[in-house]
Amino acid sequence: MTTSPTEAVRLQLNGQVVEAAIDPRALLIEVIRDLGATGARAGCLTGDCGACSVEIDGRLAKSCLVLAVSAGGSAIVTIEGRDDAMARAVQDAFVRCGGFQCGFCTSGMIMVALELLGRNPDPTEAQIRAAISGNLCRCTGYEDIVRSIASAAEAYRANITNNKQRE
Ligand code: FES
Ligand code: FES
Repeated sequence: MTTSPTEAVRLQLNGQVVEAAIDPRALLIEVIRDLGATGARAGCLTGDCGACSVEIDGRLAKSCLVLAVSAGGSAIVTIEGRDDAMARAVQDAFVRCGGFQCGFCTSGMIMVALELLGRNPDPTEAQIRAAISGNLCRCTGYEDIVRSIASAAEAYRANITNNKQRE
């Protein structure tokens, strides 16, 4: 009987340092899901759908295109790791505006929206469409996703303004 080779990897997942013995051929999406971060979805596994989107050291990435061993030492953030005002604004907006149906693409769409709003809190519709152009949704026709992200941006900006006025 042959056994699969394993390699030790140590990374930070949503703020927790984790160590795992993994197959050196394993994709990051497979490893983080095995570690419990199932908000990131394994869709196409070819870089086309964006369902596996996560942050790696603060940068948006498709985790099916990354070998887990090469992410050793990195800080990975999945949707479970985003519990901040911007993330809440985006999630609320997706619910309010009907930005999902089956929900399979949603965590990836939200990770992309967070990356966009992090660098541009007042995006145009064209900028929103460009940001989500690497993510596929087979249910919504995209209109309500675009509306959700625009509404989230508006709500988040209003929240910041209100907080400043209270200071
Ligand atoms: S699962 Fe990674 S892009 Fe589709
Ligand atoms: S809501 Fe079903 S794939 Fe987007």
